Amino acid sequence: MSKVTILNRPCQKDAAKRPEVERVFANRKVPEILKSFAKGRYFYIRTYGCQANIRDEEVMAGFLTEAGFTRTYEQAQADVAIINTCAVRENAEEKIYGEIGSFKANHTKNKDFMLVIAGCVMGEDGVGESLINTYPFISLVIGTHDVAKINDLLAKYLEERKSIVNIRSFSSEIVENLPSIRLNDAQAFVNIAYGCDKFCTYCIVPFTRGRERSRHVEDVVAECKKLVDDGYKQITLLGQNVNSYGLDLKDGTTFAHLLEEVAKLGVPRLRFLTSYPSQFDDEMIETMAKYPNIDKWLHFPVQSGSSSCLRRMARRYTREEYLERVRAIKAKMPDIALTTDIIVGFPGETEEEFEDTLTLAKEVGYSSAFTFIYSPRPGTPAANMEQVPPEVSHERFNRLKALVDELTAAHSDTMIGNTYEVLVDGPSKRDSNVLSGYARNGKLVNFVGPAYLTGCFVKVKILESHVYSLKGEMAEDPLISKARDVAFHMEHDGLLKEYARLNEEIASDPDIKALGEELVKAKKELALSMGTEKHKEKKNEYESILEKIHNHPLLQNRDSLHDQVESELLAIRDSIK
Ligand code: SAH
Ligand code: SF4
Ligand code: F3S
Repeated sequence: MSKVTILNRPCQKDAAKRPEVERVFANRKVPEILKSFAKGRYFYIRTYGCQANIRDEEVMAGFLTEAGFTRTYEQAQADVAIINTCAVRENAEEKIYGEIGSFKANHTKNKDFMLVIAGCVMGEDGVGESLINTYPFISLVIGTHDVAKINDLLAKYLEERKSIVNIRSFSSEIVENLPSIRLNDAQAFVNIAYGCDKFCTYCIVPFTRGRERSRHVEDVVAECKKLVDDGYKQITLLGQNVNSYGLDLKDGTTFAHLLEEVAKLGVPRLRFLTSYPSQFDDEMIETMAKYPNIDKWLHFPVQSGSSSCLRRMARRYTREEYLERVRAIKAKMPDIALTTDIIVGFPGETEEEFEDTLTLAKEVGYSSAFTFIYSPRPGTPAANMEQVPPEVSHERFNRLKALVDELTAAHSDTMIGNTYEVLVDGPSKRDSNVLSGYARNGKLVNFVGPAYLTGCFVKVKILESHVYSLKGEMAEDPLISKARDVAFHMEHDGLLKEYARLNEEIASDPDIKALGEELVKAKKELALSMGTEKHKEKKNEYESILEKIHNHPLLQNRDSLHDQVESELLAIRDSIK
């Protein structure tokens, strides 16, 4: 009997097929066998790669928590472990082999241990199956299209105790109603579209994440509204190419429209990843400029500064068109910080083409840039083109890196002496007295401050540039920053809002006003009747008004909210330590 159940195998060729997209709802019912297994057991997830994988981690964590597992950050404690892989470059992919080996100890110690390999590497033809052949203690290999099936697949494994391969290269689904345990309480990622239709010749992403499928505007807005109501300070809208959002909905919806709808919800910081230069139109520029809560930071991947190289990459713009967009953006938003991705050593890249990249980077004046050496990816067209020798790529990479460092330093220097609002991520790993966070322009800022400012906006004056990060000092008393944060939360708190609304309604309600006046009158009469035979009658009158007040639905509602509001305020008090 075979030890492996193949439910679905990837086929990279299928990834290019265009699906009829269907909106479906996740099955949240937890299979009984998994529910009883999960009790008292722990899950562990390690994620590589981009925000798409981070979001998948949050969703899988949501499913596993619903099953009854508890999260652990200790590998040794894990009863279920997920390695969420990235395939974008070979060095990212190589990491998984060592990783898998490191879970052998869990397997030896615990015969019920389940190891799951997920993420983009699973989308490559044959890789998942070959991993199971090499490491038979893997329980499940699962593709990016099926993260919502994690609980059902783990249950199947528990029933049959046979490793499962379930990877599809093609999906026609947009799955809604996903559970999720977000990794950060102040900053959230929201998917607006899945997959990518661009098929740049170097890139594996369309093969691992399928064709582009846009979520409906209402679904994205509802998710963002909930985040705003829950007090999130920053939302990042995610898509491999946000600017083609909506094209597949065929109802004229554009990304600029969606961005505006989300900006209007009032989240303090709104950003988005990733933009495709030639589709970043004037409507986008207008929308970005119009809303102060949309960060004036734009990640604008160019990949190469040479039109001929861009053509071989199948990027659908020339150097001139890219620069024209940059000029249009800067004309409307002169202070915008532009960052980019650049690949060096793309097949056939000549010295002249590479120099075009250097001159473009200088002309744009990026505030920072991610630079990569081209890495051939299986199944992509560029992998079969004539490759640049590694020593040439490395030499160019170093030259580019030196230029990027110079540009980054020049931008960071402009920040010295100015004060920026920083959204605090938390204490730095190296020194717990130092807090780290990001300014609106995307730059990392470190400063000495108390840990209770994690998740708060803090005004920081920049003192020194360390090129890729800046050092500053708090420009206001930390308690004032915290108090502003508490005020923000109170303003966004649904319960407090309802309490305040009820109070206003009560204050303007004519019945309650009349009852109040009657009560005052009855109380006076009661006092005057003291010692007379009318006293009993007046006492009854007074008590009947009191009862009417007591039974009034609006006042009853307020009384029932009162205790909840009080306990919430006490919790806020306790959080200020
Ligand atoms: N959709 C986004 C991100 C794609 S992956 C975009 O279009 O920008 C992130 C970055 O990885 C890319 O921008 C590219 O610079 C880099 N990259 C992708 N494939 C690569 C490869 N085969 N070799 C080297 N870098 C690559
Ligand atoms: Fe890859 Fe190009 Fe799509 Fe970005 S736009 S994910 S680089 S194919
Ligand atoms: Fe990597 Fe997949 Fe993202 S390949 S970069 S994790 S879409």
